[in-house]
Amino acid sequence: MPITPPPERNWWDLPLGIHEKVWLSLVVVVGLGLFIMMPAWHVLGGQNSSNTSFRVAPEAYFEKTTQWTKGAEQTAQGLKPPGQDVYLAALRFAWFPNSVVLRAGVPYRIHLSSKDVNHGFSLHRDGEASQKVNFQVVPGYEYVLTMNFSNPGVYHIVCQEYCGIGHQVMVGKITVEGGD
Ligand code: CUA
Repeated sequence: MPITPPPERNWWDLPLGIHEKVWLSLVVVVGLGLFIMMPAWHVLGGQNSSNTSFRVAPEAYFEKTTQWTKGAEQTAQGLKPPGQDVYLAALRFAWFPNSVVLRAGVPYRIHLSSKDVNHGFSLHRDGEASQKVNFQVVPGYEYVLTMNFSNPGVYHIVCQEYCGIGHQVMVGKITVEGGD
């Protein structure tokens, strides 16, 4: 049976029915609520990352990362940082260094930047489908994330921004050892 048009064609001029008024009011209230949540949660929510960022020349950052790798201890699992600073450089299509070893319960400052194009830094704990963090890694900016791994295990670093033909192989690894 075809849907027939209503007899009156000037729907716009007809007064709202009570159900329309109720639903439209609900939509406005929910929309305003969500809108207010954005700035409110920035202040009240505990989910915001503790990061700072500043400008850096891509080559200078890469050089700093290279120097840092020379001071780190080479292990079978990856580089062990001498202190609490960790430098990771993103480049097409790898993370440099591509594996680091950290200790659980230690607050690390993870420095991130890109040598070439926009990449993404996301962490996936081995065996878990959900991702733990996701950050943009933009060339020209150094991001410093304060991260404290509470659980030992293997965390895969996965590039989460399409950066070219090798994007899907751009992975790295953070091995977190027990914090005792
Ligand atoms: Cu780097 Cu995708």
